[in-house]
Amino acid sequence: MAKLFINERNKKGHIHPEIYGHFSEHLGRCIYEGLYVGKDSEIPNVNGMRRDVVEALKEMQIPVLRWPGGCFADEYHWKDGIGPKKTRKKMINTHWGGVVEDNSFGTHEFFELCGQLGCKTYVNGNVGSGTVQEMSEWVEYMTFDGVSPMADLRKENGHAEPWKVDYFGVGNENWGCGGNMTPEYYGNLYRRYQTYVRQYHSDAPIQKICCGANGDDYFWTENVLKTCTAHPKPGDGFMNGLSLHYYVVTEDWKVKGSATDFDEKTWYKTLKKALYMDELITRHGAIMDQYDPDKKIGMMVDEWGCWFDVEPGTNPGFLYQQNTMRDALVAGITLNIFNKHCDRVKMACIAQMVNVLQSAILTEGPKMLLTPTYHIFHMYKYHQDAELVESFVEGNKIVGTEENQVPEISESVSVSADGTVNVTINNLSASAGVPVEMVLTEMEPSQIEAAILTGKMNAYNTFEEPETVKEEIFTDYKADGRKISFTMPACSVIAFRIKG
Ligand code: AHR
Repeated sequence: MAKLFINERNKKGHIHPEIYGHFSEHLGRCIYEGLYVGKDSEIPNVNGMRRDVVEALKEMQIPVLRWPGGCFADEYHWKDGIGPKKTRKKMINTHWGGVVEDNSFGTHEFFELCGQLGCKTYVNGNVGSGTVQEMSEWVEYMTFDGVSPMADLRKENGHAEPWKVDYFGVGNENWGCGGNMTPEYYGNLYRRYQTYVRQYHSDAPIQKICCGANGDDYFWTENVLKTCTAHPKPGDGFMNGLSLHYYVVTEDWKVKGSATDFDEKTWYKTLKKALYMDELITRHGAIMDQYDPDKKIGMMVDEWGCWFDVEPGTNPGFLYQQNTMRDALVAGITLNIFNKHCDRVKMACIAQMVNVLQSAILTEGPKMLLTPTYHIFHMYKYHQDAELVESFVEGNKIVGTEENQVPEISESVSVSADGTVNVTINNLSASAGVPVEMVLTEMEPSQIEAAILTGKMNAYNTFEEPETVKEEIFTDYKADGRKISFTMPACSVIAFRIKG
């Protein structure tokens, strides 16, 4: 029996909705087909955006969307993606399959999509192969409300009003695909480029994001921050976020392993790697604390998720993979970790939203399915904008194999503005159920709603059987005063909403 103690009175911090963000890159079938099909498509769309996908993402309550990359961002030249579509330049997408990118999805289309989704916008600029002028003009094009060459160009292209850019990334993975830079070199470029990300609206400033580390590269974090904060220190607001990228790669980068065909040993190995996110946040956070003790700079985990071998027979450059209950647990564990670190983690974007890596949605022509990962985001959505509260599991057993041991339970708890207590709890055991007793400190529940996602560890949805894994109402619990008792099936995630 595991006992989950909840102190709903002890608020620990605010859970920024953006922790539940997503990432869309010009990669494989993420943008083209997954999100954008064009106005003339037979697939039902609104101004070219797939109606089915947009509806599902709205239902999941997507808070922010990052675009256009990824590695693609540092070879993207935004002016190629504006103006009449037939005159837009074509380019080779060298990173991702060497396919022709016709630039039919560009700045205007991105803001149209975010408008339909009702989410915040995160645009990633090009430092690797772009100039300061190009970046500065993009910001002017998107946000300046007045007479200027770029604002006039935007108007000529049919959009009189400026858009709202909530977040702007100054480069992506500049330690690798974004230019193979050293932290000192990038840090100096960051200082320079961010200067020209002009704030045209003082009431709604753009949040600037500096390129952070890959996984456990603490040297990068330390030296980028040292360079960026060295004398003379740029003015306030020069950096609002520092990114972190971490992918769960079960085997190694050459043979990543199948997304669907795996054994229990691999299951625990994968979950252990997902739990490693906690250490990464703690250790990068400790470095950030030295340069930013007041925690004004958010840690933006703007790429995370499982990276497996592509589905057999698909283009290796398109990173199309299936999504099982294992992905659901990785998402559940990771989101619980983000919630618990909400004092430092202010945004996170799972990679990627549709048809690439750990996607919420997969499409095949006109067909669409929701993956187990989608259901996790849907079940966890109530944590958005809520206050994290204290929780603790007593009697949390260790499960797994000799090499890969993990705690049986992962959990996080928040309280929404209306007082509802939101509990998300995962059973990491692939084979055993676990009895749980949940105890609130003060609240006597008068209304309880719960949803469960469970199945075999490698269960997944296909276009033929899209509902093999789906969120269901969970009623198999007993409430007694401040206690709620239930048994979690092996390999499951349960979300409770409790009102007093
Ligand atoms: O998400 C796929 C790729 O992973 C991104 O383009 C890059 O930033 C990272 O290496």
